[in-house]
Amino acid sequence: MKILIAYSSRTGNTRKVAEALHLELPGADLCPISSAPNPEKYDVVFAGFWVEAENANDAMKDYLKQLGGIPVALFATLGAYPDSQHAANCLKAAAAQIPNGNVVDRFICQGRIDPMMIEWMEQLPAGDENAPTDSRRQLWEDAEGHPDDQDLENAVAWAKAVLEKMKAKA
Ligand SMILES: Cc1cc2nc3c(=O)[nH]c(=O)nc-3n(C[C@H](O)[C@H](O)[C@H](O)COP(=O)(O)O)c2cc1C
Repeated sequence: MKILIAYSSRTGNTRKVAEALHLELPGADLCPISSAPNPEKYDVVFAGFWVEAENANDAMKDYLKQLGGIPVALFATLGAYPDSQHAANCLKAAAAQIPNGNVVDRFICQGRIDPMMIEWMEQLPAGDENAPTDSRRQLWEDAEGHPDDQDLENAVAWAKAVLEKMKAKA
């Protein structure tokens, strides 16, 4: 099975997950989306993005538009909790970018938030949708250190299960 792991990462969190998958999926090709090969050569594309404004980041949105008809396994990192409605919305919004999308499965985990972003949010006036609150500060603190070893292990187990499922169907 020809596997492409194509990712977009601004501060390295999503790249870490992509690299963990690459280590454990023998024969898979790993590429940032800026230099990804023609996806049509592949049986499955693992497409990894960082969440931006409750969707895939902009560069990945463009890339996903090229993946119509190709089996895609989406993975992502985000600042919010991975079991939140927000996380589910982000994956759904990303999947919707693929014309006639064939999303075989999805994985998401938390990723450290850029300290510059936190600094910016700390300046926002109360009432702004991103203004600091106790629960938001807790979230930012909880995101520190992610993706951690457990996240990477979970991502690899997920990817292997995706491939098993695809092989069983073939
Ligand atoms: C401009 C910007 C927008 C973001 N928007 C969201 C968001 O809507 N929801 C969220 O949970 N995290 C958001 N984040 C946090 C990132 O998705 C998260 O830190 C991610 O792990 C970064 O991945 P990377 O290191 O691969 O770039 C945002 C970060 C930035 C810089």
